[in-house]
Amino acid sequence: MTSTKLTLTRKKPETFSGDLLVCCFEQDKNEKIKVNRSPVENELKKAIALGDFKGTDGNTLVFYPQVSEKRKLSAKRLLFVGLGKQESDKLSSARERCRCCGGTIAEKAAELKANKLFLCLPEVQGLNEEEIVECLVEGILLGDYRFLKYKKPDEKEPPFQAIKEIEISASSSGKGLRRAILHGQQAAEAGRKARDMANEPGNGWTPTSFAEYAQTLAKKHEMHCTVLDKTDMKELKMGGILGVNQGSAEPPKMVILEYRASEKAQTILLVGKGLTFDSGGVSLKPAAGMEEMKYDMCGGAAVLSMMGVVGTEKPKVNVVAIIPSTDNMSGGSALKPGDIVRHYGGITSEIINTDAEGRLILADALAYGIEKYQPACVVDLATLTGAVILGLGHHRTGLLGNNQDLIDRLLAAGERVGEPLWQLPLDKEYSKQIESDVADIKNTGGRPAGTITAAAYLQKFVGDTPWAHMDIAGTAWNFTKKSYVPKGPSGTGVRTLVELVRSWKKF
Ligand code: BES
Ligand code: MN
Ligand code: ZN
Repeated sequence: MTSTKLTLTRKKPETFSGDLLVCCFEQDKNEKIKVNRSPVENELKKAIALGDFKGTDGNTLVFYPQVSEKRKLSAKRLLFVGLGKQESDKLSSARERCRCCGGTIAEKAAELKANKLFLCLPEVQGLNEEEIVECLVEGILLGDYRFLKYKKPDEKEPPFQAIKEIEISASSSGKGLRRAILHGQQAAEAGRKARDMANEPGNGWTPTSFAEYAQTLAKKHEMHCTVLDKTDMKELKMGGILGVNQGSAEPPKMVILEYRASEKAQTILLVGKGLTFDSGGVSLKPAAGMEEMKYDMCGGAAVLSMMGVVGTEKPKVNVVAIIPSTDNMSGGSALKPGDIVRHYGGITSEIINTDAEGRLILADALAYGIEKYQPACVVDLATLTGAVILGLGHHRTGLLGNNQDLIDRLLAAGERVGEPLWQLPLDKEYSKQIESDVADIKNTGGRPAGTITAAAYLQKFVGDTPWAHMDIAGTAWNFTKKSYVPKGPSGTGVRTLVELVRSWKKF
């Protein structure tokens, strides 16, 4: 949990005597900044005239206000932050520029060791005050994130301290603005929690950790949690997750968390790959960079942490989250190439490569979840293929599915929250690549179109249920460099799902 306290105030900025008074400015189409109505009009004019501040995206200026008889600006420091130019192209949308501005504020606060902030809101073309507040708060809290649990503090440097308090200067302290703050805070909190899970190493975050956290959420928000263990999986004949777990000393878990809005409401099913470490199994991965495979649980982390928002905000739609979780190891009884597993529901699969394990655990979760919860739609998130990095790099999540309406909703949600997605085709021809001579299907489709054949595998388990698959292998960490995404896991997917649920309309 962040301990950052956020309050709305109608106090004059001049009266603030804390560490950092922050004023943000947007450039208009001619790259001009609106200077009037700013509490620091004179300073701003001077900074612009000298060319020290332009208001471009990420541009900052720190200075120290002089207190005189006439003018009492009592803050210790002043910070100007640029929001960049009003633009119509979607990727640098106004909302995203506000989040980036928030991230920049967090960076500066950390650098200056500033704990108490006062925020003067910018005017941003196309956004109302509520949207501006929401996105700024989101950006600040997502940017003010560090994972220092395992590191001894540097003796020469004062330790990192999260921002303690932000007073936000707004035109009112009404319900709408308070809700905007809460929305920003909730979304950021969930993103931070997903990053915490991902930052934990394979020996720090296990399938059991997923189960325990789901139980904590269930208790806190009166949701229903079920954890299927190995015995349950055997009874249910979940041969995929059991197969992947065979070579491991760590027990597998299928973690299910249900939020129920009402009997009549539709159900959204969310499935997240919770592979707590992927060695590749017998088809062992190369040693170089293998440590990054502790992030192979980022889909599960996103799905489970967004349930915290669902529990708090209590939307009018039912949401069920399922996280199939295990690690992928190469112990003596591990799955071998050539083995055949039988998934939940009966489909058999020939194992060509034990490193294509994500689809094996997701298949059981999808088939089981769809049968049990009869959802209106399913979305799964997984760090599924290296191929998506070749195709889309680290800037967009790969998106595939069998229902264009659902895909369009996700594309729109991702764009709005700064987690862009890109749709890939899923024509039936691709399924030919996963036909097997000895089983119903096989678990790899060769080198061509690796991301698509992985999705084609999952498609076998969703039937006619509207379904979308997000391949976050390129975006879950090493995501596009942004001020509000510190190095390491990004928490991607969390805010897309939150947005999908918040803007839910009957399917
Ligand atoms: N977890 C990996 C995918 C991955 C690779 C994520 C690199 C992030 C970075 C997945 O389990 C995997 O190993 N996929 C294989 C599939 C192949 C064997 C068909 C891959 O992409 O190489
Ligand atoms: Mn793998
Ligand atoms: Zn994997």
